[in-house]
Amino acid sequence: MKLLVTGGAGFIGSNFIRYWLANHPDDFIVNLDKLTYAGNLENLKDIEKNPNYKFVQGDICDFELVNGLVSDKLDIIVHFAAESHVDRSVMSSRDFIRTNVEGTMTLLDAAKNNGGVRFHHVSTDEVFGDLSLDGAAFTEKSHYNPRNPYSASKAASDHLVRAYYHTHGLPITISNCSNNYGPYHFPEKMIPLFITNLMENKKVPVYGDGKNVRDWIFVTDHCRGIDFIIQKGKIGQTYCLGGNSEITNIDLTKKILSLMGKGEDMIEYVKDRPGHDLRYAMDYAKAKQELGWEPLLSLHEGLMQTIEWYNDNQAWWQRVKSGEYQEYYEKQYGE
Ligand code: NAD
Ligand code: TYD
Repeated sequence: MKLLVTGGAGFIGSNFIRYWLANHPDDFIVNLDKLTYAGNLENLKDIEKNPNYKFVQGDICDFELVNGLVSDKLDIIVHFAAESHVDRSVMSSRDFIRTNVEGTMTLLDAAKNNGGVRFHHVSTDEVFGDLSLDGAAFTEKSHYNPRNPYSASKAASDHLVRAYYHTHGLPITISNCSNNYGPYHFPEKMIPLFITNLMENKKVPVYGDGKNVRDWIFVTDHCRGIDFIIQKGKIGQTYCLGGNSEITNIDLTKKILSLMGKGEDMIEYVKDRPGHDLRYAMDYAKAKQELGWEPLLSLHEGLMQTIEWYNDNQAWWQRVKSGEYQEYYEKQYGE
């Protein structure tokens, strides 16, 4: 197969490319990424010379570019590219609407114009809004109820993807997944921020009272889930993927502190995020029944592996935190 992966220089996209080439070594991947602040080609250093991999720097909103790539004997588009950080969407929504909505539409148009190319859309549990502490977990039948600009833009993109299936017969699938963590996670998100802060002997900022609940999934379990959907998923369907690892932010913080041999004096309670969703949780029974997929790694095991990775790759996250990583493209690909 020939795949167009969008956003492949980001956290999940780069893990997906590594996963895919290891498990499908005869396939060819084109990685289209704009290299925003979240895109980092160092995430793919071990892949860049693979003859079955090609990087293209560009914007998913650029129809001419996208259409050219899609028209070149493509089998599937796997769409990760997005503005992905809730806190940034609270500060400014514009890029979120542009990339997540307009960019998704541009890709859908290119898929439609080239004979209906298979399209897998990578989405989030956050489109369903938030749950009470004792409410049933989200399923594919949950109502959309996004509550921040990031989740609203992702919800809009999900609706567009489904609309192209119903209106134009585009062969689509969608996955809505819970919070990912693991290697190459940008240290503005909770788990990598806390791990790297502790490695720098800095405190960890817990929003509000720390009682918010998230369901965490190790990133390669998510990548496997997308693989299962691509291979066995039914066209037009949505699949919820989750990590079976619900935990409050404060309990997760204490777990990270304990695994890293640090005391609770390193916790700093800070002002809460506006519109902070109380709880996300995913019921992945459909993926389990129809695809035979379930997450393999426990939160404990995944956290141990993640801490070890950040410990072994201090230069990577130090360059990310200092901003130096943004020079990598110029050095590797510039004139
Ligand atoms: P990320 O922010 O780490 O990476 C996003 C990538 O997209 C970056 O490489 C960036 O350069 C690229 N990009 C942004 N705008 C672009 C544009 N206009 N054109 C081309 N490339 C562009 O994000 P992530 O955490 O890896 O998330 C990937 C996808 O998975 C997103 O669609 C996100 O909504 C979804 N998702 C994320 C999580 C999570 O916990 N991180 C959970 C569920 C779903
Ligand atoms: P985050 O990693 O931003 O993912 P999301 O908002 O998509 O769930 O945040 C995970 C949880 O951690 C969320 O409830 C907000 C909280 N959080 C903190 O308490 N402190 C932080 O510094 C960050 C970034 C997040």
